[in-house]
Order: sequence, then C-alpha cells, then structure tokens
Amino acid sequence: MSEIRPLEPIPSPLREQPDFAVPPALAAELDAVIARYPQARSASLMLLHAIQEQFGYISRQAVEWVAARLGLPPLNIYELVTFYPMFHAAPVGKYHLKICRTLSCALGGSHQLHELCCTRLGLDPRQHGPQTTKDGKFTVEFVECLAGCGAAPVMMVNDAFHEGVTPRRAEEILGGCS
Ligand code: FES
Repeated sequence: MSEIRPLEPIPSPLREQPDFAVPPALAAELDAVIARYPQARSASLMLLHAIQEQFGYISRQAVEWVAARLGLPPLNIYELVTFYPMFHAAPVGKYHLKICRTLSCALGGSHQLHELCCTRLGLDPRQHGPQTTKDGKFTVEFVECLAGCGAAPVMMVNDAFHEGVTPRRAEEILGGCS
C-alpha cells in the first residue's frame, strides 16, 4: 500500500495588499453600479474591472472587499479572479505582453516569439507563466487563443493587438515601448 502523504494547502496566487483602501468616490460609483442589477452578484465582473483599473491587480484584500460589497463569500470572487485571464492576481509591468500559444500560433512561431521577447528582456524563456522584469517595465506571458488565429503568431501589448509578428516586428514593438 502506498504511503499517504499529508494534504498540503492549495497555494493562493493572490498577493497581500495591507494598505488596500478603495477611495470613497470609487466606492460610491461601484455602489451605483451594483444598484443597477436585480442581483448584486451580477455586478461582480464590473467591480473587479474597476478595482483592477484602480490598483493594477486584484489582491486578497480586494477580493474580500468586493465579496463584502456584494454580500457573497470571498470564494465566489476568488474563482472569478483565478478563472478569467484578463484579471491579474499580482502586479504586472507597464507593458504587458501576452503571446498566444494555441495551435495556430504555436505552428506560426509563437514559441520563437516568446523566446525572443524573454531573451531580449532578460527573462526565462522556459517559463510560460507571467514574468516581470526587475524594473517593473515589462511582463511577458503565454496565453491561450486571442482570436486572431488566421494571422499567427499573435501578441497583445496591453490593449494593442499585433498579428503576424515576425522577429523584426517584435523588435520594433519592443523598441517602441518607452
Ligand atoms: S491560435 Fe493564436 S490567436 Fe488563435
């Protein structure tokens, strides 16, 4: 019979943010958003977008704040933050590079593109998850399909969408991030 190992806690990717405080004007704005819905829970994503826009990421304290505002258990908010890739559970760089690794892009050179970006920025090309440069300027990560499969490889830099990114184009894009 194999040895039964003690259960280990599931690691929480949420960061601590002890000084988390929502400005009163934003809190009032979010209360008005909640009031527009018959069910407060329906405002969950709206609140998370607003909190991320304010703080740059969503911390444990932010999850608890949103949950309390909506009268929900924090787990209901935590699962949204960890499910949707548009939410960040940790701070990201000024320029957030999301490189698609799904099939069309993988065949079209996204792994070479990821390697080029990581190498150029001093990051580890073997890591697929988000990595941020020491100066906090760039975050690079692989993501799943960005819905531009016909123009692989596809990369987003913040909200800008780049298709058919050749190595030369990648250098130009990185060079344009000042
Ligand atoms: S596979 Fe890359 S955008 Fe769809």
